[in-house]
Amino acid sequence: MKGLILSGGTGSRLRPITHTSAKQLVPVANKPVLFYAIEAMREAGIKEIGIVVGETKDEIIAAVGDGKSWGLEFTYIEQEAPLGLAHAVKVSKSFLKEDSFVMFLGDNLIKNGIVSLVEEFSRSKPNAQILLAKVKDPSMFGVAELDGKKVIRLVEKPKDPPSDLALVGVYMFDKSIWAAIENIKPSWRNELEITDAIQYLIENGSTVHPHIIEGWWKDTGKLEDMLEANRIILEIMEPRIDGEVDEASQIDGRVVIEKGAVVQNSHIRGPVIIGENAEIIDSFIGPFTSIYFDVSIRHSEVEHSIILEKSRIVGISRLEDSLIGKNVQVEKSPKKPQAYRLMLGDNSQVGVFK
Ligand code: TTP
Repeated sequence: MKGLILSGGTGSRLRPITHTSAKQLVPVANKPVLFYAIEAMREAGIKEIGIVVGETKDEIIAAVGDGKSWGLEFTYIEQEAPLGLAHAVKVSKSFLKEDSFVMFLGDNLIKNGIVSLVEEFSRSKPNAQILLAKVKDPSMFGVAELDGKKVIRLVEKPKDPPSDLALVGVYMFDKSIWAAIENIKPSWRNELEITDAIQYLIENGSTVHPHIIEGWWKDTGKLEDMLEANRIILEIMEPRIDGEVDEASQIDGRVVIEKGAVVQNSHIRGPVIIGENAEIIDSFIGPFTSIYFDVSIRHSEVEHSIILEKSRIVGISRLEDSLIGKNVQVEKSPKKPQAYRLMLGDNSQVGVFK
């Protein structure tokens, strides 16, 4: 069994972060989302993994490496443009050959991993196995209609959902997927859709098994979902303090402070992770916050946020529900007149309270 992780795409819903960076490398609890997918595959005993990359190829390769340090074998597969999930499979044919494979969307997170799913697929040998999760608002997702143990129909974002079972970003296929991909046409958005390929399998006598997952899953493609994934992972991490915390500081609850990090005269209320060589001075860091490496926070309060590497936050009385990119500076300015002075990239979002 091989693995295929989709790490191309446009990431338009996470702009402006994705103007300069791959969304699969945004850290959740200080670990790039993509790494969770790689670890899930490794845990399931999958050794050969193809990673589909697009225009952020160089950055992904630099972050993930050649697989030796993971004890795995990676093959990077270039997709010339994000022409759909089934197109990403199509361009991976020379890597996948006739083998069965697990496909994992590189921006998805699944709580309980994929060990039992891979076992079930190997045991019952359907042509495809899809993962489904019960959701409150099925009309926002691809939804499956079931007849007992069989999937009979998939519908994209239905107005009138046939069930509350949404497609999760992990799929398993055997070689029958190739005929399906050859026979489908691009959709209205000009993408080769994996749902169309699966629908083709259903209509042409292949068996498509559903697997309904019990634990949580998250597609981190949007800001709110990214913050929620961060919240969920921070809640289950093991607390540990390897950095320096002075006597004037207070640490409550589930907190990780990495080596080289310095906390002075500050209050950290977990769950919080503070990355290597970060400094937190005269500040309050509230629950569900991930601060990546080399970040400096002074005289500020930050809660329920993700701050990426090398950013500086100084003199800000309260920052919440925020995703701050790399090398960003948010500083209170002593200059008169008192005003917001901004240099924001395209598609930035700022919420001010007065
Ligand atoms: P999506 O989140 O569906 O698409 P996207 O990355 O283009 O994002 P947005 O909708 O915000 O513009 O993609 C799911 C995953 O699959 C993600 O990790 C990107 C990857 N992907 C590819 O590798 N190739 C593709 O052609 C597409 C559409 C997605």
